Amino acid sequence: MNNSSSSINRTISVAPMLDWTDKHCRYFLRQISKHALLYTEMVTTGAIIFGKGDYLAYNDAEHPVALQLGGSDPTDMARCAALAQERGYDEVNINVGCPSDRVQNGRFGACLMAEPSTVAKCIEAMQKEVDIPVTVKSRIGIDDMDEYQDLTNFIHVVADAGCDIFTVHARKAWLKGLSPKENRDIPPLMYDRVHALKEEFPQLNISINGGVKTLDDAALHLEKLDGVMIGREVYSNPYILADVDRRFYQNDSAVLTREEIVHAMLPYVEDQMVSGARAWNIARHMLGLFQGQPGGRIWRRYLSQHGTGQSKNGLQVGPELLINALAAVNEARATAKAYQDTRVS
Ligand SMILES: Cc1cc2nc3c(=O)[nH]c(=O)nc-3n(C[C@H](O)[C@H](O)[C@H](O)COP(=O)(O)O)c2cc1C
Repeated sequence: MNNSSSSINRTISVAPMLDWTDKHCRYFLRQISKHALLYTEMVTTGAIIFGKGDYLAYNDAEHPVALQLGGSDPTDMARCAALAQERGYDEVNINVGCPSDRVQNGRFGACLMAEPSTVAKCIEAMQKEVDIPVTVKSRIGIDDMDEYQDLTNFIHVVADAGCDIFTVHARKAWLKGLSPKENRDIPPLMYDRVHALKEEFPQLNISINGGVKTLDDAALHLEKLDGVMIGREVYSNPYILADVDRRFYQNDSAVLTREEIVHAMLPYVEDQMVSGARAWNIARHMLGLFQGQPGGRIWRRYLSQHGTGQSKNGLQVGPELLINALAAVNEARATAKAYQDTRVS
């Protein structure tokens, strides 16, 4: 099938993050940027094929949204890619970067960097089934396969199979001895390797990932690369996305203020609660909304303290959680301002 007709603009994307970028998180982030490409958490082929829940659920408002798959069996990967396309996902991405033991036991994730031909077979099988882009997210290397040449070998084989869109986390992974969390911090970032990759494979669409903390950092990478994927910074400080549409997508539409975002989330919380979610399932992703702002700590504390309990009438906490947290922020701001005013006068 024709997979190169991707109309997705992947200048800025939000990284797949297990337990973090679930559908609630993505809906929330979409209130801040209309254009950044959002990735799901990694979903294994086993969960999709054999699981009881609906692991592909998402909200239409999330587009453009990419499903990240964990797996290495070409038949299963192709089947899941077809399901993803059927459900309307804009892209399906193969995880070749996760170093956890559980993932290694299933022979997928970062250990696949040592098996480019397996990834190539998955790409071929998946592309036969779908029109949406089939992409790869990898590291720059693993264990002792960490020379630049190892990376280019991997990219060569996978690109020859038909993949032309890559996101590369610019640090290697140690498959033994480091936890997944340590593997996101300890191996040094080597941005030059990813920049060099783009020079060597100019025909490929290459995004860089790892340690990007500001949109200025992103803009610098974009001088050399096609896209920048941001993970932890977006999660801890989501409002960093507020300037993305204007700055990288030539879209000058008004951006919602933090307060407007809170209000925009209320009908969603209500809606999701009808189908069994708790307000906290959604609010937990919003803890960083006021990061670095006056009242930011109050916001976080209010949500954490009140988000998981019950309201006074014994019912589950609902959308009022967000309203009350906002009121607490405004009250704290007013008190701080009054204090400042008395000091000035
Ligand atoms: C909590 C958490 C979960 C993650 N889960 C995934 C995942 O499911 N799939 C994946 O490819 N990477 C996963 N990652 C790695 C991120 O996608 C990203 O590569 C990494 O955090 C480096 O980017 P950053 O420095 O911008 O955060 C995860 C990272 C975090 C912090």
